[in-house]
Amino acid sequence: MGCATTVKDIGRPETIENRWDILYRDYPEVYDEFTSVPYSKSWIEVAKKLFSFGNKTIADIGSGSGISTFEIAGYARLVIGIEPEDAMRELAVENAKAKKLENVIFKKGWAESIPLDDNSVDAAIAVTGGNFSSRENISKFISEAERITKRYGYIIAVNVAPRWYGGDLAPVILGKGRTTGLDIEGVADETLTQMGFSHQDYYSIQYYRTVDKIVQTYGFIFGRKAIKYVKEHQKTTINWKFRIHYREV
Ligand SMILES: C[S@@+](CC[C@H](N)C(=O)[O-])C[C@H]1O[C@@H](n2cnc3c(N)ncnc32)[C@H](O)[C@@H]1O
Repeated sequence: MGCATTVKDIGRPETIENRWDILYRDYPEVYDEFTSVPYSKSWIEVAKKLFSFGNKTIADIGSGSGISTFEIAGYARLVIGIEPEDAMRELAVENAKAKKLENVIFKKGWAESIPLDDNSVDAAIAVTGGNFSSRENISKFISEAERITKRYGYIIAVNVAPRWYGGDLAPVILGKGRTTGLDIEGVADETLTQMGFSHQDYYSIQYYRTVDKIVQTYGFIFGRKAIKYVKEHQKTTINWKFRIHYREV
């Protein structure tokens, strides 16, 4: 069954070919739709076993349209979402209002210079954080996370596992070499491991329900090769492997 075309769809390209910066700036609603597709398991179910969120203040770095912030808000006292992209932050504020959530706030800021006081939160968390692109950026984020987090608090980073960019379609999207700039997960994993982080992995299936829906959200982001594959194979689910890195402060 086809989806109705809306005014917003007119002039929209078929795909942004992995340009996440363009996605966050111009298509925040597509990111929100992509990440709202139900998963068989959420990162927070794993994180809850590592860290107790009850009555805690948590910084959610790279909070995007608020999906990760809202998940944490279900357990914590207060969640402060830090997000640089205005379009994403504005959508998060709207989403929080619609959900009538009172224990979330959003601030403009970057992982490399977090606009929070020293020792002001119990945990700094980044769920598929947007700055995990180079060793230097990750190191800056970790030193900022250490600064804002109280002693015995936690730093938690949730990312797609190395070589799982795009989930089980990674071989289709990246090709055999997988040495393109898209293997940022490998860089994040290596850097965090060297910095003394432990990790836990888990698998989760994302259910899109229809081929149209997977093409218009996942395909829009991950490109033509992914679109061709899901159409040819009538695929409506994506299997992901995630890696949660964590360390006490
Ligand atoms: C993949 S999204 C994750 C959003 C949210 N945490 C979630 O789970 O849906 C990454 C977000 O990080 C933001 N971002 C990009 N660069 C950043 C930086 N240097 N510091 C903090 N956030 C950044 C992006 O704008 C985007 O909203």
